[in-house]
Amino acid sequence: MKKKFYLTTPIYYVNARPHIGHAYTTIACDSIARHQRMMGFDTFFLTGTDEHGQKIQRAAEAAGKTPQQFTNEVSGEFRALWRRMGITYDDYIRTTSDRHKGAVQELWRRIRENGYIYKGNYIGQYCVFDELYVDVVGPGAACPECGRPTETVKEENYFFKLSQFSEPLLNLYTAQPDFIRPESRRNEVIGFVRSGLRDLSISRSTFSWGIPVPDDPRHVIYVWLDALANYITALGYGSHDDANYQKFWPADLHMIGKEIVRFHCVYWPAFLMAARLPLPKSIVAHGWLLFEESKMSKSRGNIVRAETILDVLGNDALRYFLLREVVFGQDGSFSFDALVQRYNADLANGLGNMASRTLAMITRYFRGEVPYPSHAAAHTPADAAITKLAEKIIIDYQQLFEKYQFSRALESAWSLLAAVDKYIVETEPWSLGESQDEQSRARLATILYTSAEALRIVTALVHAVVPEATAKIWGQLGLGDIAKFSLSELSWGQLRLGTKLGKVEAVFPRADKSAIQRMQQLEETERHVSEAVAANAAEPSEAARQSALSQASPKASAPPQRQTSDSTSAQTKGRITIDDFAKVELRVAEIKVAERVKGTDKLLRLEVDLGSEVRQIVAGIAEAYAPETLVGRKVVIVANLEPRKLRGLESNGMIVAASIEGGKPVLAAFLEEVPLGARLK
Ligand code: ME8
Ligand code: MG
Repeated sequence: MKKKFYLTTPIYYVNARPHIGHAYTTIACDSIARHQRMMGFDTFFLTGTDEHGQKIQRAAEAAGKTPQQFTNEVSGEFRALWRRMGITYDDYIRTTSDRHKGAVQELWRRIRENGYIYKGNYIGQYCVFDELYVDVVGPGAACPECGRPTETVKEENYFFKLSQFSEPLLNLYTAQPDFIRPESRRNEVIGFVRSGLRDLSISRSTFSWGIPVPDDPRHVIYVWLDALANYITALGYGSHDDANYQKFWPADLHMIGKEIVRFHCVYWPAFLMAARLPLPKSIVAHGWLLFEESKMSKSRGNIVRAETILDVLGNDALRYFLLREVVFGQDGSFSFDALVQRYNADLANGLGNMASRTLAMITRYFRGEVPYPSHAAAHTPADAAITKLAEKIIIDYQQLFEKYQFSRALESAWSLLAAVDKYIVETEPWSLGESQDEQSRARLATILYTSAEALRIVTALVHAVVPEATAKIWGQLGLGDIAKFSLSELSWGQLRLGTKLGKVEAVFPRADKSAIQRMQQLEETERHVSEAVAANAAEPSEAARQSALSQASPKASAPPQRQTSDSTSAQTKGRITIDDFAKVELRVAEIKVAERVKGTDKLLRLEVDLGSEVRQIVAGIAEAYAPETLVGRKVVIVANLEPRKLRGLESNGMIVAASIEGGKPVLAAFLEEVPLGARLK
């Protein structure tokens, strides 16, 4: 029977859209999943979204949507991004799905039946951002984890007897030293548990966005108990079809970011122990991706979107960069400069160049068929050195990769590329190319075989990390579907004599400086879009106005182009697809109320009727329109913009107006009758 491997990402909160921090964990897991599949494991890779709790409920309210509508949208965005990135998850769990809810209630019952749940009164501080009960005193006291003000919770709750698990947990950490990695996190957790565990409140009764407590639906289950359970509910735990649970649980790996170690290494094993279920084998916490010196996060407003990098440099570039640049386990900085630098050095000039150069010479000198060193005299110590190094790197790479030391693993694979590069420079195959004597032909065959075989080995090793280009190179080597290759059998000499090469094409076009500008511009445009919302509302800065303008005209905003030989695509780069446009929800609305906002002469507070609902929008059009002239007028609004507070007023959408340089905004209008809420598309 095949060995199994079950791995998970955290399920991401849907209060914010995905960014490369989320992509980082997901890419690491996807690389591991692909690697394990190639190593012959029956692999199950789970990801999904965390959709309950106060944080999400509030985000939905702020967006003027029902929580379900809101979570559907954002969860869909995560899923769409993972699809676009070719993430090979086997299942995508949403905590608002019925299969999850029922199974969480089942887990609750089981913990209760085992005597670990009781009712009590909770009075204390709660951090909504971290969804964490914190041990600080007094209303508004800062959360020790994130520094945000906490809220006082005073309600009747169900408690979990966490205090009974200090000993069993400490025993677990001792018995299974690999349960938490890296070592620094393990020590942190041990310290935390040693300092004493208090019982944990595991229900809330003052809001409703969650899974009802069995037999007491006035309470909803604490969002972290709900969320952690995803790792078993997705497998069918507690349902009539639990074949995957039977097969894959316990998990081999929960991959997480370092800020959620306590939940995974203390609460989760304690819940499982209380339910008498097997514990996961290991939890690996990586560091944070920093941008502009602090943790990349939506709340700090310093995020970079994966889409930007995909648009300009492609999927492999993002994957390779994140796993090569950041020492896994530690924090690492993201910068566009470093990204382009690595892309050019390691992908375009490294792997890409090695592939095209080697394969082009085989095409030219051996009519596209893999030559084979035909007699011993054609061998030199330099060839043997490459063979030896390749054999060593096959072992090193796999060992490092299995310890999740991605950067070192990739570094070792690239050291083979560097060695082959040097070997080619020194052996000068091109100088033998035109010779017809047998000795030269044999020597040339040896050099090109050695190079191609080393290339094949690197390609197979790094496929899990750089899937797209390596699949192409594999095809160019004439080898078929790389994902089906059995990596555990990789060894020198498997490339067969006479293998017919496929069509040789460059896999990584070099990026020039404009790539950096282009990515920065894409991110800036994105920031300006949200600013323009406010701009429509707030005193519009010239930059925001320009960018709102350029939004409508791709020409004005088209960033410098990536090098491309295809002129049609050069012209259309920077344009968006119909799907991109479909993300913008433009709707017809009627202005019901319009009044000036006190203390400014630019802002109007509007109430607009969308047919299904009335919204408040704060718009920066007071200098162009007197409020009384607007009532009863039909306008176009962007209905799915994130809400924003202006002068203390929440603005829930944006009115569409023509922006005229140096002039006043002009509202879009219709000549025919249109019903309220009608969508523009
Ligand atoms: O914590 N650097 O969800 P979340 C590195 N729903 N990794 C980052 C990152 C960054 N700047 N930003 C995000 C939650 N991540 C809970 C989890 S699991 C049962 C429930 C990644 O949306 C990293 O994996 O805040 C981190 O742990 C996770 O996203 C947090 O995502
Ligand atoms: Mg978080």
